[in-house]
Amino acid sequence: MAKLIVVTRDGTEHEIEGDTSLTVMENIRDAGFDELLALCGGCCSCATCHVHVEEGNRDAIPAMSEDENDLLDSTSDRDGNSRLSCQIPFTAELDGLRVRIAEED
Ligand code: FES
Repeated sequence: MAKLIVVTRDGTEHEIEGDTSLTVMENIRDAGFDELLALCGGCCSCATCHVHVEEGNRDAIPAMSEDENDLLDSTSDRDGNSRLSCQIPFTAELDGLRVRIAEED
């Protein structure tokens, strides 16, 4: 387990104990945050798991694939910290990661 900080759209910060065998998206979804729709279930085809990585060990986050990059381009709230949370394995190295759920498209 490792700490994952989730900031919801109203700006509230929530600290959860993340499961390091899951992705960031799965941890957020399983903790019951219904703002993160994750409609495609993690197969990198919907962009409804978009988050902004605000703090954490960015070196431990895998590089973005071309598919992820294309999907993020289709969102209105993209910035330099944007990632699809289903594409981030929540490893122990990411203990303390802080992500903000992106605005709804
Ligand atoms: S859950 Fe659909 S792209 Fe991440």
